[in-house]
Amino acid sequence: MSRLLITNIGELTTNVPVDGDPCGALADAAILIDGGRVAWTGPAADAPTDVDETVDAAGRAALPGFVDSHTHLVFAGDRADEFEARMAGVPYAAGGIRRTVAATRTASDDALRTRLAGFVRELHAQGTTTFEVKTGYDLTVAGEERSARLAAEVTDEVTFLGAHVVPAEYEHNRAAYLDLVCGPMLEAVRPFVRWIDVFCERGAFDPAEAERVLAAGAAAGLGTRVHGNQLGEGEGVRLAVAHGAASVDHCTYLSDADVAALAAGDTVATLLPGVEFSTRHPYPDARGLLDAGVTVALASDCNPGTSFTSSLPLMVALAVREMGMTVGEAVWAATAGGARALRRTDIGHLGVGARADVVVLDAPTRTHLAYRPGVPLVREVYVGGKRVA
Ligand code: NIG
Ligand code: FE
Repeated sequence: MSRLLITNIGELTTNVPVDGDPCGALADAAILIDGGRVAWTGPAADAPTDVDETVDAAGRAALPGFVDSHTHLVFAGDRADEFEARMAGVPYAAGGIRRTVAATRTASDDALRTRLAGFVRELHAQGTTTFEVKTGYDLTVAGEERSARLAAEVTDEVTFLGAHVVPAEYEHNRAAYLDLVCGPMLEAVRPFVRWIDVFCERGAFDPAEAERVLAAGAAAGLGTRVHGNQLGEGEGVRLAVAHGAASVDHCTYLSDADVAALAAGDTVATLLPGVEFSTRHPYPDARGLLDAGVTVALASDCNPGTSFTSSLPLMVALAVREMGMTVGEAVWAATAGGARALRRTDIGHLGVGARADVVVLDAPTRTHLAYRPGVPLVREVYVGGKRVA
């Protein structure tokens, strides 16, 4: 495989800590990619010359590709009407999920596949080079299997979310639905998924139900993740930490005990500010979590109900503007943080040996991601050294 040198990088964020800077930023730098992996980074003046191809970044900034550790991309329809109502003051409730379930169940494989392919293009164009995808908008055995299978066509990071909400046909028989999720449904999706997730929240699943789902997933060899503390304080965070879940996502309403539990455990707190943007809830207290020593990730939660955006640059801008994160912390959370939330060591950084997932911005520094919100600053995107956008 060929050797590609990207040189004249004005600011290269590596996420390999240097002199106490976790972002390991290098000025006037270059990166050598060999066989799809990072082979070398350093001052452009010292760059190797035995290369097959050279890209001149002309002083622009480069960083690791974004790692979006939380999306729900297998669905049909949208719920723009709910968004509009919320902006006029109607509160969000978990039950809206059932509308997307109804639309998804009637969609063809091809329709779902085409939609997914569109999202992948959208993600790449915004600098996301790894993304997780959840099932959870069908909630039948055959339909969850289909969602998992289609998701596995576009990513290795597929999550089973049969425990998204109890579907209407089981409304009066929750226990039977949980039997299905923890039995035949789990078995059907098992070949395609790496993770299991549960929406532990009022209107979705209570802590005892969530516990049962996580235990069944872990027994089947899946890693665990939790949707918790999105709409109010609750047991989600403590349950996730007690389970050794890779991540607990949302973390919008946290008690001091939750923060202490996260700081003491090794569960990542994944913050999803697109949800607060789209539901008018208060943004999570990222500053408090970081100051307590918690590992924080930023993800899009791209879904038709609460956050219909796939933009990690927007999450970085919101985190900086609304959540007290520095630009460096926000970019780290959207790259290395996402990798931690997926328990991956090969992505989220540009250390030697990492997969060569690189984003070149049409800007001199990463600060422009927050300073120029809404502007398409992603200029070049490489996944494993191959240009995808
Ligand atoms: O992450 N919290 C649960 N699931 C989604 C919302 C899904 C929906 O409303 O369709 C979320 O916010
Ligand atoms: Fe979600």
